[in-house]
Amino acid sequence: MEKRYGRITGWGAYVPEKVVTNYDLENIVDTSHEWIVQRTGIYQRHVAAPNETTATMSVEAARLALQKANLAASELDLIIVATTTGDHLTPPVSSQVQHMLGATNVPAFVLVTGCTGFLYGLTTAQQFISSGAYDNILVIGAELLSRFIDWNDRSTCVLFGDAAGAFVLQASTEPCGVLGFDMGSDGSGSEHIILPATGSAEPVNAATFAEGRHYLRMNGREVFKFATRILGQTSQRSLAEAGMTLTDIDTIVPHQANLRIIQAAARSMGLPIERFLVKIHKYANTSAAAIPLAICDGLDAGEIGLEDRLLLVSFGAGLTWASAVLQMAPTTETAFAAARTASLEIAELVSA
Ligand code: ACO
Repeated sequence: MEKRYGRITGWGAYVPEKVVTNYDLENIVDTSHEWIVQRTGIYQRHVAAPNETTATMSVEAARLALQKANLAASELDLIIVATTTGDHLTPPVSSQVQHMLGATNVPAFVLVTGCTGFLYGLTTAQQFISSGAYDNILVIGAELLSRFIDWNDRSTCVLFGDAAGAFVLQASTEPCGVLGFDMGSDGSGSEHIILPATGSAEPVNAATFAEGRHYLRMNGREVFKFATRILGQTSQRSLAEAGMTLTDIDTIVPHQANLRIIQAAARSMGLPIERFLVKIHKYANTSAAAIPLAICDGLDAGEIGLEDRLLLVSFGAGLTWASAVLQMAPTTETAFAAARTASLEIAELVSA
C-alpha cells in the first residue's frame, strides 16, 4: 500500500462571546492585572454562557472545520473529542457531538489526557489514516474549565478559559500531516493537577462538596518545573522521528499555559521567543483546545501558513506530554520549484 498521510483539510475554532478581563477578576478575588500579566502573560479569557456546553462549543468548531474541508459530517469515518470536561461523566460527549453534527452512526470516542489531548488525538487519527482503516477523521480539542474552577481560588481561577478547536484530517499520498510525534505519561505526578472528587475514587458527597473537592486543584510550581523540563525533551524526540532538526521548523506552537513556561522552553531550545506562536494573552489556558485554537488564530492572522512546518508541543494533567511535527498541507510545486532553484544556485556558487 502506498504510504498514507493525514492532510489537514479543515480547521476551525470557537470561543464563547463573553470576555473576562484581569480587571474583572480584581473584583472577585485578591489579585491584580499586573500580577496576572507578569506571572502568566494572560490579559483576558473567554467564558462560556450558561446555555453553552463542551458539546455545543465542539460542534461550533467542528462545523467550521468541516465547511473549510468541504466535507459533510456524514462523510466522516471517525470523530475524536479530546476533553477533560465533557458534558457528563457518561455518556461520552463524543456521541453528543456526533449526533448534533448529524454524523449518523459515525464512531466517536472521548480521549482524556488533559491539556495534551488534542495532540494525542491528532496522532491517533494519523494512525487510523496511515493504516488504511479510515480516510476522513474529525479531531476536536474542547474544554469548559470555567465550570470546574473555584472562582474564590485566585491561584487557579485567573489561569483558564473556555474554547474548542477542530481539525479535519483526510487521507493523502503526498507527504504532510503529522511527520513525527512523541507522547508520554508519568502518573507519579498525578496529584499535581487533579479534580479530586469527580470520579469513582472519590464520589461527590456532601463532605467533598463542602470542601470544594469537585474543583480543579493544581500544584503550580511543580507543574511549572515539569513543563520547563519536558517541553524541550519531547520536542527533540518528535524532531528525531521526523528526521529533522529545529532549523527545519518554521514555528513552534506550544501549549498555552503560561508565557514564562514558553520563555523558559525558548531559552532551553536556544531559540528566540519570536519563533513561538503565543496566544495566551487573548485566551488564557484552554487546555485541550489551546493548540488548535492558537493555530486557527495564527492562520487567520497570517502568522503561519499551511505549508509551514510546525512543532506542536504540550504538557498537562496525568502528568502527560506530547509533541508532533506538523505540516498541514503538502508542499506545493511552487515551493518545490523555489527550493530547487535555490539549491541549483547554491550548487553553482559552490562549483564556481
Ligand atoms: N494574584 C495575586 N497573587 C497570587 C495569585 C493571583 N492570582 N495567585 C497566587 N498568588 C500569590 C501566592 O499566594 C503566593 O503568595 P505568597 O508568596 O504570599 O504565598 C505568590 O503569589 C507566589 O505564588 P506562586 O505559586 O509561587 O506563583 P508562581 O510564580 O509560581 O505562579 C502559577 C503561579 C502562575 C500558577 C505558575 O506556577 C504556573 O503557571 N504554573 C504552571 C501551571 C500550568 O501550566 N498549568 C497547566 C496545566 S493545568 C491544566 O491545563 C488543566
